[in-house]
Amino acid sequence: MNYFTTEPMHHIIDTLQTAVDNLGVHETLSCVVLNPDCATSTYAGSIITYNRTRYIYRGYKAWVDLAQLLRCRMLTPILNHDHTVTLHFQKLDIDDSFHHLDVTTPTEKYGTQSHFSKINKHEEPAFVAAYLKALQAVHISQRTNVLNLGINNADEFALIQNTCNTFESISFTGIDYCDSAITAAQKRFQNSPNVTLFRHDINELHTLNLGCFDLIVSIGTLQSSGLHFKPLFMSLIQQYLRADGAVILGFPNCRWSDGEMLYGAQAPNYRYSELSLVIKDIYFCKKYLQQHRFRVTLTGKEYLFLTATRISKSS
Ligand SMILES: C[S@@+](CC[C@H](N)C(=O)[O-])C[C@H]1O[C@@H](n2cnc3c(N)ncnc32)[C@H](O)[C@@H]1O
Repeated sequence: MNYFTTEPMHHIIDTLQTAVDNLGVHETLSCVVLNPDCATSTYAGSIITYNRTRYIYRGYKAWVDLAQLLRCRMLTPILNHDHTVTLHFQKLDIDDSFHHLDVTTPTEKYGTQSHFSKINKHEEPAFVAAYLKALQAVHISQRTNVLNLGINNADEFALIQNTCNTFESISFTGIDYCDSAITAAQKRFQNSPNVTLFRHDINELHTLNLGCFDLIVSIGTLQSSGLHFKPLFMSLIQQYLRADGAVILGFPNCRWSDGEMLYGAQAPNYRYSELSLVIKDIYFCKKYLQQHRFRVTLTGKEYLFLTATRISKSS
């Protein structure tokens, strides 16, 4: 078992990475470190001495970050008697992920029987807090007509229903080509006449004669392989957004594996997270919207939210 006192973090990373590389899936490794609760308001790197032993201080946030960097989850630490704790890192099954699954029916990749359906983003604070902030920024309670592309099982409408007291007076339209997800969404909102859900391909949006909306939301969808990101995005702004309309786009900057939401966009041909594609697409949208007189903000971490509201002519 490793016992870390004043070893620098780069040494700890090296040591534990080698140990993790030799573990099997779901096996754990342990190490003893200074109890993070021994100090407060203390930055990582401060030296703390107990019983003449010097330690480098790190908080739990640092150890949880390290666990994720090592592609592990941190289990409950054991409190020792000497101002230390024993940390346990369990190696993740990184291949246990919907990102790796080939499905026979591509439209069911995100269906009710899929690995993806086990994910509830609304219980991940990093997602739900950023999405709620974006909804506040576009003044959701004052919107009248909302379009969501890639609505899946309609979690994104359910959150608005649970948090916005004008939900009933807003008209919601959701689109998804996944049969099982949209059927579940329709069942969920069967008593909400203000919610319309279409099983439909976003590439064929024009055939629905939807009209215009004062809020367009799309999370984790526009970058999908069957969609042409840039022309689709521009057509949404030009053809489906009202003059006073607003936009919320959510870009995944994470991957989901073995029960964990892991920071960092996954790019083809890279074994580690690579953010070029997500940054390029976000930058394209931001520039385009700014040229069309929108105020644009970018927020979030594991999900990056682009929020755009129209700058009024008077301002
Ligand atoms: C990654 S999921 C995101 C779902 C949901 N917005 C969320 O964040 O949990 C992408 C969704 O877009 C849908 N989708 C992808 N391409 C589509 C297309 N061409 N037409 C309609 N729906 C599509 C998928 O079925 C899926 O439900």
